Amino acid sequence: MNRGRIDHLEHAHPTHLAGARFTLHYGDMTDSGGLNRLVMTVEPDEIYNLAAQSQVHISFDQPEYTGNTDGLGTTRLLEAIRATGRGTRFYQASTSEMFGLTPPPQNESAPFHPRSPYGVAKVYAHWMTVNYREAYGLFACSGILFNHESPRRGENFVTRKVTRGIAAILGGRSEKLRLGNLESKRDWGHARDYVEAMWMMLQQEKPDDYVIATGIQWSIRQLAEVAFSMVGLDWQEYVEVDKAYFRPADVPDLCGDPQKAREVLGWRPKTSFREMIEEMLEFDLAAAGLTPATYLGDRSAKAS
Ligand code: GDD
Repeated sequence: MNRGRIDHLEHAHPTHLAGARFTLHYGDMTDSGGLNRLVMTVEPDEIYNLAAQSQVHISFDQPEYTGNTDGLGTTRLLEAIRATGRGTRFYQASTSEMFGLTPPPQNESAPFHPRSPYGVAKVYAHWMTVNYREAYGLFACSGILFNHESPRRGENFVTRKVTRGIAAILGGRSEKLRLGNLESKRDWGHARDYVEAMWMMLQQEKPDDYVIATGIQWSIRQLAEVAFSMVGLDWQEYVEVDKAYFRPADVPDLCGDPQKAREVLGWRPKTSFREMIEEMLEFDLAAAGLTPATYLGDRSAKAS
């Protein structure tokens, strides 16, 4: 089991994590028997379904696997909850990828037009979540989250690829950073803020669906420009476009409207795009054996 991202929680000082101790169980989104048994024995108050094949590009190569885990896997979990009749609250990790070609600003009423097997599977899972709420009265919420990043982001997603790539260049282990489509635009927030929104949804009186976004948009080109300039480099000297990273169909233009989350949940993003990129750079520079302050200085990242 891959536990690299949670190991530190188990060893953290107990007073910092009062009540946050956890027990790990094996589970697989393609195995309904196991999921049923887990939900029956654990009797959870809340389930956050973050399990997925979450790489959009890979979903074009593995469309059936992606549909099975991300789409049908959600149905298996919903069925397991329904079978117990215990009122377990359910959070579904829906995504801005469901909007696909629909132009911004995207809110809860914007139509879905997914552009990848991943997006299609997530639309199915989203509507199953809504359906189980309407048909069986499950406390089921769908959080339509725009891209959210942190130093724990997988290495193949574009923000982390850029911050790790910069660390590799500064460390002398690489000369260039190869990226795909520089023209697509994303609305990036910090995962820490977005996880808080997930939790808030399940603490409401009534289940509902919410868009979680910052409402600010950057292109991949701007991401590269900002991140390289933070360490005093000109991105154009290092970034090369490589067709291998282009997708058969991409989502060109995402920018969410989080008004409902703001008004109903009282949720607001706390971390700016620049603060987030700086935090990721700091982490990746240190991981590469470099001293972050040498490259980032004491620059204030507070300005957005
Ligand atoms: N991964 C990647 N690698 N993307 C690149 C690259 C590259 O080298 N070069 C350009 N891009 C572009 C992609 O074509 C896409 O338009 C954009 O950068 C963002 O790609 P990702 O970081 O891979 O994220 P994503 O937007 O496809 O999907 C992520 O966010 C969704 C919304 O929250 C994933 O985390 C999804 O699972 C999630 O649903």
